[in-house]
Amino acid sequence: MGTERMTEIEEEGKRAFAEAGSDEVLRELEVRFFGRKSELTAALKGLKDLSAEEKREIGPSIQGTRTVLMEAFVVAKERVEREGRDWESERIDVTAPGIAEPLGHLHPITTMIAEIEDIFTRLGFDVADGPELENEFYNFDALNMPSDHPARDMQDTFWIESEGLDTRYLLRTHTSPVQVRYMETHVPPFRIIVPGRVFRNESTDATHEHTFHQFESLVVGETGDVTVGHFKHLAETFFAEFFGHKIDVRLRPSYFPFVEPGFEFDISCVFCDGKGCASCKGIGWIEIGGAGMVQQKVFEAAGYPRGKYQGFAWGFGLERLAMMKRRIPDARLFMSGDLRFIRQF
Ligand code: PHE
Repeated sequence: MGTERMTEIEEEGKRAFAEAGSDEVLRELEVRFFGRKSELTAALKGLKDLSAEEKREIGPSIQGTRTVLMEAFVVAKERVEREGRDWESERIDVTAPGIAEPLGHLHPITTMIAEIEDIFTRLGFDVADGPELENEFYNFDALNMPSDHPARDMQDTFWIESEGLDTRYLLRTHTSPVQVRYMETHVPPFRIIVPGRVFRNESTDATHEHTFHQFESLVVGETGDVTVGHFKHLAETFFAEFFGHKIDVRLRPSYFPFVEPGFEFDISCVFCDGKGCASCKGIGWIEIGGAGMVQQKVFEAAGYPRGKYQGFAWGFGLERLAMMKRRIPDARLFMSGDLRFIRQF
């Protein structure tokens, strides 16, 4: 087989590939020109039987033909593929509106925390926080509740197995431990708020959840500078801002080991303005939280000298306020994960 034949094959192949109009034809041509029984393959195989001189003469033309045809094959393959595509079905309309991704949004409690923080920060308060996994010292001892104190029973506690540790751990039952944590690292005067999640080991019903949120506030200054009157005024200012109309606050003597004197405080019913309705059971007042003047023992636990400072602390449950403001009937809804509930806010 000579060079002339190679040229013939090359011409024939180039024409065939250029004219091929379908995949099937291309496959046939591939077999015909490169297959095991093709002339080209036979010529390549036959090379080894030729003399060195013959090889030098005809070898390059066989290789050359093969290269040329391979290229023609690749070009034809691309062309057939391109011609065979259904471009209309692949058309992309760049002006078509996009597919809207479903967006989540903030939980009503989160929104409310931001709202309350906003009111207090405008009044000059700093926002502080502390751990939800707390130890016995901050949650109880430092707040004047040593281990034998009966007041510990007021807050049913989720204790954490703490065997082998030097202190007992628990899920904080209130946000008050942050009072001590904050005072350990700050010197009065200061005013802070502490929003946070708290936990109580109790059975749940429409007004109780084991996991809920509290809002703590602490204002401390030199002795004589901060009084119960300041607390009452601050509370009235805050609740008026929060509910958008005038609110009265009243104090009732009560007991919390970390305040002296201690109070519970009520606000005038936000539904009837204190006249008496079903929501306040005809009383005109709604219980909100605890408050009082900080016990000197708490200052001492935080490292302050006895008698130098004076201040008030108060705390209330956020879910209760949210329920009033948004007319939510059941405290368990907040943690239910039920999107039908969440989507309403
Ligand atoms: N920590 C108290 C509770 O959870 C509320 C409170 C806060 C009372 C601050 C007095 C002062 O019941």
